[in-house]
Order: sequence, then structure tokens, then C-alpha cells
Amino acid sequence: MAHAPKLDVKQDSAPVVNRTTRKTVLVLGLESSCDETAASVLRRYDNGQIDILSNIVASQDEEHRPFGGVVPEIAARAHMRKIEPILAKAMKTSGVAWDDLDAIAATAGPGLIGGVITGLMGAKGLSMTLGKPLIAVNHLEGHALSPRLTEDCPFPYLLLLVSGGHSQLLSVTGLGKYTRLGSTVDDAAGEAFDKTAKVMGLGFPGGPQVQKWAERGNPTAVKLPRPMKGRDHADFSFAGLKTAVARAWDASDKTDAAKADIAASFQRAMTDTMLDRVGRAMTLYRRATGETEKARLVVAGGVAANTELRAGLKTLAETRNYDFIAPPLKFCGDNAAMIALAGAERLAAGLIDTYDAPARPRWPLDSAAAKTAPKSGYGKKGPKS
Ligand code: KG4
Ligand code: ZN
Repeated sequence: MAHAPKLDVKQDSAPVVNRTTRKTVLVLGLESSCDETAASVLRRYDNGQIDILSNIVASQDEEHRPFGGVVPEIAARAHMRKIEPILAKAMKTSGVAWDDLDAIAATAGPGLIGGVITGLMGAKGLSMTLGKPLIAVNHLEGHALSPRLTEDCPFPYLLLLVSGGHSQLLSVTGLGKYTRLGSTVDDAAGEAFDKTAKVMGLGFPGGPQVQKWAERGNPTAVKLPRPMKGRDHADFSFAGLKTAVARAWDASDKTDAAKADIAASFQRAMTDTMLDRVGRAMTLYRRATGETEKARLVVAGGVAANTELRAGLKTLAETRNYDFIAPPLKFCGDNAAMIALAGAERLAAGLIDTYDAPARPRWPLDSAAAKTAPKSGYGKKGPKS
């Protein structure tokens, strides 16, 4: 890396941190698991307060737009091109000197392996060079903790994690303590938004485009299914809804009015479905945690940026005696501030990694549950979480 001091070849293992000496920590985070190359520096005080000193995100939308989806090979090359300038910019913007960092955190999975390797190897190199601890962060833990970047959001909470690759409901009882209450048996919520946009030629990335078109449409114009609605588990399924949208589009007159109506009807079906599943998970959550007073509902991941979903969750939370917390839009999608935060929380707890930390294409938050089928069984593609 251009600004890093010379490599100290004598150091062959990750430095050890004394958990009793860590108070306020300064952490550099790197994110490169999908199609955003990102770096961030943040300070975390021992009371949990956060200063985000820089948060740089380079999107690869332009590179992937012609294909209507993320192309792994293109993503891997773009991460290699962008990671160094993004890192340099994050450091410069933060005003923090390399030597003042307390740790280097990077996404180590789950995600597209080429990108994950790029960020993780960069972090390992920096960690060795600077003699600072390495923290290999689970990208999903980054999303799970993201509301804590800007809000006082203590454990425990019920988490709806909905992104391009994942759809899960989790009980979060502490750092690294996740219990899966439900997950998708086929597609992720963001995937359904992206495919819907692709079918109608709305542009990439799909979620924001569907939302934009939906604003002009009638959400009751097209009858679409609400998969899993009313079931007594908290799993999701979105594949059937995606197919139903493709059929509705085929049968339509393909005008702008049809686009808007289908987008609005799809978004409503997605929202209805997710609210039903969250409602069910609320019951399971109270049962599991024994919580009878006011509980907390948190939404995270790229799909958490959806306005209709946020509004629906807020109302549901009020009626079920939950506080509702959603990150600001810029922290819903992939970013490195959430990775730096996960790194900072891990560092403060004395949890650091060694240089053999692997890059993982799959890495469930609740590994015990991931080995068993969701309550409703797997879809055709097998487990996603
Ligand atoms: O968390 P994220 O940036 O990347 C993954 O880890 O997957 O999530 C990206 C997903 C994409 O599928 C994108 O279409 C979706 O989030 N998304 C939205 C909105 N903004 C982004 N979906 C619905 N409504 C939105 N406003
Ligand atoms: Zn993500």
C-alpha cells in the first residue's frame, strides 16, 4: 500500500490484544464482498459512542449495469483496481495517521470470493506491516450491528436482515450471539427486487428502480402471491413471487403505466410478505427471550432502504410494543463503516484473528441453525443462510 511504512518481516503472527487495556479504539475497515469497494475509519468509545471519521464507498454499478446484475469476474477485477485508492482516500479523509490505528478489520465473507480475497489480503498485509491486530469480519455481522453506528441500540434485538444475498430473521443477544428464527428457502429479498427490475428493463441496481416506478403505480392493480403468509414458522420464500411478476409482465401491454402498476404491486406483495413474517418472528422472539416489556426491532441490509418496508415495519413495531430502529440509508447498503464497527466491537471484546483467517464464500451467522433445514424445509437451491 502506497502510504504504509516498511514491512516488519520479523512479525509472523497477529499481535495479541489485552482485553483489559482496550478502551477507545480507532479501526480501519475494508469491505469488498459484492459490488462495492469501501473503506472507513471510525473511533469507538468504550461507552459505545461512535465517530465515523471517513466512509468511502466506490460503487461498481457502471461496470455491472450492461449485464443487469453483478458479474463476479468483473467485480473481482474492479475491487483490485479500486481498493488502494479507496483506502488511501479513507485514511486521508479521516486525518488519522497509520500508526494511530488500533486494528485493521476486513470482510472475510460471506460473499463473492474474488472480492473477499482482495480486501482480506489487503488487510492482512496492512496488519503485518503496521503491527496492528487483524479482525476478520463476517459481512452479515456488519449489517447486524449497523444500526449501532448512529443509534443507541443495545442488545438484545430482533433483526430483519434483508439484502441482495440474504433474508433472515435473527435474535441478536450480544456480539457474536445470533439465533436464526427464520430464513429464505430460495431467493433473497434483494434478489427478487433485482430480478423484477431486470424482467421489466427498469435498470440496475433493481431495488431503488422498482421503488421509483412503484411511486407512480397502483399497488392493487396486479394480483400477486404472498408466499408463506400465515405459516407458523418465520421463513421466507420469494421465488414464486418473482415468477408471478414475470408472468404478469408477459401478459401486460408493456406500457409505462403497466411498469408502474406491476412495480407497485410487487413492492406491496414484498412488504406484506415481510411484515407477516416479521410479525410471526416477533412471537417467536418474545417466546425465546422471555421479553414481555418493550422490545426492539431492527432492520438492516440493502433492502432496508425501501421506504414502504420501513414505514410498514414502523407501524407493525408500534402495534406490537417494539421500538423500531433502521439505519440511515447510506448505512443500509454495503459500506465499510459497519465492518469497522464490527471490528471495533470485536477488538474491545479482545476478539482478534490470526493470519490464517480464511476468505469464506459462505459463513452463516448462526452456524448451528444453518446445518439444519429451515422449519419449512429447503427450496430447490438449498440453504441460503
Ligand atoms: O446489502 P446490500 O448492499 O448488498 C448485499 O450484501 O447483498 O444489498 C443490495 C440489495 C440489492 O438487491 C438492491 O436492489 C437492494 O439491496 N436495494 C433495495 C433498495 N435499495 C437497495 N431494495 C428495495 N428497495 C430499495 N430502495
Ligand atoms: Zn451486504
